[in-house]
Amino acid sequence: MTAPWWQSGVIYQIYPRSFQDGNGDGMGDLRGIGQRLDYLAGLGIDAIWISPIYPSPMVDFGYDVADYRDIDPRFGTLADFDALLTHAHARGIRVLLDFVPNHSSDRHPWFVESRSSRENPKRDWYLWRDAAADGGPPNNWVSDFGGSAWEWDEATGQYYYHAFLKEQPDLNWRNPAVQAAMYDVMRFWFDRGVDGFRIDVLWHLIKAEVFPDNPPNAAYHPALGDMHRVLQLHSTDQPEVHAIAAEMRAIADSYGSAGRGERVLIGEIYLPVDRLMHYYGRERPEMHLPFNFQLIEAVWEARALATLIATYEAALPPGGWPNWVLGNHDRPRVAARHGQAQARVAAMLLLTLRGTPTLYYADELGMSDVPIPLEQMRDPRGLREPGLGLGRDPVRTPMSWDGSAHAGFSTVEPWLPLNSDWPARNVARMMTDPASILLLYHQLLAVRRAHPALAIGDFALLASDGDVLAYERREGAQRLIVALNLGGRRQRLQLPREATGCRSLLSTIGAAPLIENDVLLLRADEGVILAA
Ligand code: NOJ
Repeated sequence: MTAPWWQSGVIYQIYPRSFQDGNGDGMGDLRGIGQRLDYLAGLGIDAIWISPIYPSPMVDFGYDVADYRDIDPRFGTLADFDALLTHAHARGIRVLLDFVPNHSSDRHPWFVESRSSRENPKRDWYLWRDAAADGGPPNNWVSDFGGSAWEWDEATGQYYYHAFLKEQPDLNWRNPAVQAAMYDVMRFWFDRGVDGFRIDVLWHLIKAEVFPDNPPNAAYHPALGDMHRVLQLHSTDQPEVHAIAAEMRAIADSYGSAGRGERVLIGEIYLPVDRLMHYYGRERPEMHLPFNFQLIEAVWEARALATLIATYEAALPPGGWPNWVLGNHDRPRVAARHGQAQARVAAMLLLTLRGTPTLYYADELGMSDVPIPLEQMRDPRGLREPGLGLGRDPVRTPMSWDGSAHAGFSTVEPWLPLNSDWPARNVARMMTDPASILLLYHQLLAVRRAHPALAIGDFALLASDGDVLAYERREGAQRLIVALNLGGRRQRLQLPREATGCRSLLSTIGAAPLIENDVLLLRADEGVILAA
């Protein structure tokens, strides 16, 4: 295969606090990840993306970075990181870090200096503005975590802007010194050997220069959360962000071999498809993969999914490589959204669509959202607007590895509760159950690896009727058909004429597919891959 690894490969997101505790403090860490590399290699993924591991007060669990060039002692040391990188690479697993350039922690020395006086050379590294005429915030921008996005600083008599928590002041990316410092951060990690970055809230980096009020959101309803009171028209997705994304890409490419893009950049961008596409880069290359989160919110119906896929494919710029995500540390898990039976079908969809898939840890166990009682809630997103179900703790609970105490995750009580079904839903147990979703993931990843048509082949829709979504993937002479039953009733699919006599590669329900002449009979919640 000649495609770069990040096109043919599969990415696996690790939320490091919850993957494996290596030092007995109830929280995951780098040594823990190192202990589970064989598991990851066995699963058959190609790269891990680790959510932030830098020194942090952990107000937003690492997305508040106090030092971009070190490892938080709770996760380990730089030496632990280097060792993890070496051991991962030895197994053919690439390592992506989470780069959080939009904001730092308020404890970062840059911000400490910036807020120390209006004359401080770092004052302009953050976004400071005078109060409005009435003494209130400079404009109506709302934090993504609710409330005004402006925090008053009594000592220097100005407000500073924070798109998230007040402990996460936004950096001023219009300042060339900030740009230079952040590009150096990227080089620091590239020089250490990391294979790329997932870039946090990339579309937020630049704000409209004069900070106009955002327009009210006519569709706002309190249940949506405070951030939706206004549309983020002026606070995000400004044209000048693209020069920055292009610069980041140039840095990444300078490490790749012969422009093959061996180091990958993935942008976290929640925007409608047409806007998202700009982040591939129009004048200069930008992100290799602007994250495509559409499956997370998709209506689970064949027609709706087919339209979504077709619209996305059609919108891709020439040479733009697609990607798909089913879940992450901010959104409800796929099993919670669609149930256990359809979580298996969703896995087949994710791993057979055209484009790089990103898996979220423990989705391969069919882990669902874990209910977290109020007194155990940790996520500031949930705590600031309680009662709306916005907290992200339920999707960040510890991985369940085996039947030993604390599911093999830790030797002590974990920082968040385990899923209550862990005695059955754990890796060791599921590895011995041929019907487990974990073994289905193993099989899907193996079939994908063995068939270039799945990894890099063309895509064509075959059917999207009622509950049946079917498509083919083709590469050279290899032709595969994927047929998914998105519902609980039997379905029939007329196979294309050339597909008669086709061979079954995999069924999500583990039985041999039922094919009568040229009709495929899909059982309830069944997905199949056929080789034509
Ligand atoms: C997006 C991250 O995915 C989320 O977890 C975090 O809270 C915000 N960015 C702020 O960094």
